[in-house]
Amino acid sequence: MNDLQNKVALVTGGTGGIGSAICRRLAAAGARVVSTYRNEEKAKAWASAQDYEATILPCDVGSYDDCVRMAAELESQVGPPDILVNNAGITRDASFKKIAPEQWRAVINANLDSVFNVSHQFVNAMADRGWGRVVNISSLNGQKGCFGQTNYCAAKAGIHGFTMALAQEVARKGVTVNTVSPGYIATDMVMAIPEEVRNKIVAQIPMGRLGTPEEIASLVAYLASESAGFITGANFSANGGQFMH
Ligand code: CAA
Repeated sequence: MNDLQNKVALVTGGTGGIGSAICRRLAAAGARVVSTYRNEEKAKAWASAQDYEATILPCDVGSYDDCVRMAAELESQVGPPDILVNNAGITRDASFKKIAPEQWRAVINANLDSVFNVSHQFVNAMADRGWGRVVNISSLNGQKGCFGQTNYCAAKAGIHGFTMALAQEVARKGVTVNTVSPGYIATDMVMAIPEEVRNKIVAQIPMGRLGTPEEIASLVAYLASESAGFITGANFSANGGQFMH
């Protein structure tokens, strides 16, 4: 399965749990993979641990200006991306009665502003070249809501609105834009939920287990492939049956 030969793939937050699996899967399909990062020490260790050539670029995806700088660096080092996976995201969970404005802003900025900031650097050029794939990583909780996550759910629901609007704008230009909504996946983000709360969540998953990062990555790789060329503006759930619609 080498159908991404000669393609450049940019994965934001590629050094994280789901991001690492996406990078590995796209590299296995032949893509030249580039990941953005915030933590230099972690990213360097990550890059040298990969069994393919992973390029890493620093970027605060919540800052438009930093995305402009990152895009120039990417284009001079590797070339423009054909595939963009907007994957970077954070949580700052708190009930609405306790949430601070900073927790609201941090999550909207890192999870939603980032999708505009990064896409705006590359998608118009994909349309000009007549080929592109954008995959936005949302969440089950953007579809169904979650106690303690007004900030995260608003951002993740917003992502799919962005997907549907942009998909219409570039549909005739060979560029597809889709959303993937993972459920609870075994990553550091989910393991940070207090164990007692996490156990209750797992009990609500019809499959009775957390998902794996690889189960998300294979869906992303499919959407990035040539074969997925007629799919756009769609939202794919991968949540073990926790939310069916
Ligand atoms: N539904 C209804 N009531 C709930 C509740 C729920 N799910 N969870 C807590 N409560 C109630 C408690 O019973 C308690 O009630 P009383 O006041 O009557 O005793 C009250 O709410 C506690 O409220 P607090 O504001 O004091 O809550 P807290 O500070 O103890 O913790 C929390 C709230 C931080 C949200 C904690 O419950 C938590 O971490 N929940 C997990 C949230 C979660 O699932 N996050 C997902 C992270 S992973 C991710 O986001 C990836 C992805 O895409 C899926």
